[in-house]
Amino acid sequence: MRRLVSETTVQPRHLVLPMFVADGLDEPRPIESMPGVVQHTRDSLRRAADEAVRLGVGGLMLFGVPRESDKDGDGSVGVRPDGILNVALRDLAADLGDTTVLMADTCLDEFTDHGHCGIVDASGRVDNDATNRRYIELAVAQADSGAHVVGPSGMMDGQVAAIREGLDAAGFTDTAILAYAAKFASGFYGPFREAVASSLQGDRRTYQQDPGNTREAIREIELDLAEGADFVMVKPAMAYLDVVRAAAEISTVPVAAYQVSGEYSMICAAAAKGWIDLDTVVAESLTSIRRAGADIVLTYWAADVARRLS
Ligand code: PBG
Repeated sequence: MRRLVSETTVQPRHLVLPMFVADGLDEPRPIESMPGVVQHTRDSLRRAADEAVRLGVGGLMLFGVPRESDKDGDGSVGVRPDGILNVALRDLAADLGDTTVLMADTCLDEFTDHGHCGIVDASGRVDNDATNRRYIELAVAQADSGAHVVGPSGMMDGQVAAIREGLDAAGFTDTAILAYAAKFASGFYGPFREAVASSLQGDRRTYQQDPGNTREAIREIELDLAEGADFVMVKPAMAYLDVVRAAAEISTVPVAAYQVSGEYSMICAAAAKGWIDLDTVVAESLTSIRRAGADIVLTYWAADVARRLS
């Protein structure tokens, strides 16, 4: 009876696996603050991606970690065809074709020596419009490398419209945009900064949202919808389930939620202490995010959950 009347399901197809690929590694490097998650080499990424797709996950979201010496002020290694993210996208596009949805993080923070998500002006502030011009180049390079979906995550005003126009002008009319629409300035991104070896000093409060603001989140989502977003995302997930619900109520495109690094690490840490049961809490957390209204969940557990469900 319980199964018959169950309202919310989590299936592998609902889940997107975020993956890190680093330049210059001989073997995968564990990320200490995210047990079980690694920075991949090109080869280990191919194997892990292949396995995740065979397990039935709905998509893959790729982050690139360049060599420290390749970082510069405007993140040029993100645009270069031989930059690690673009190289890895070509690898996976060749291996996987259309058997999965290949997504790329369209942001500068992994590639800049200052660690900000945009181009920084003389006074040290992120220049919104200069950043959007750079995002167009990033998105076109990623689409050209085989990304089906680009994911602008830098929270610049007008980024979705700029990227849509730039992709269309370059002939990538079929490349979709997953807009990080309501992204909060969150302490839950802590472990991610280790994952991508971030160079950031300071914070992102001039472009990411105040955790207290729902009305502003709605406005950000409405703007991204009007600018042509194909998906809108709320991030983080668990501390913002009310925002996920609000997004689901107004969105005319699928809603995604990102269970971020800190959410992952907290649950891992408590489970490692024996204070909670890992599998139970992972399943419950994902069910709750889906119940709140997310069609799609980005989670570092995507492949593990798919394995358990298969
Ligand atoms: C920015 C980006 C971040 C995350 C995804 N894209 C970091 C940030 O905004 O500081 C965080 C993801 C996570 O914590 O799992 N490119």
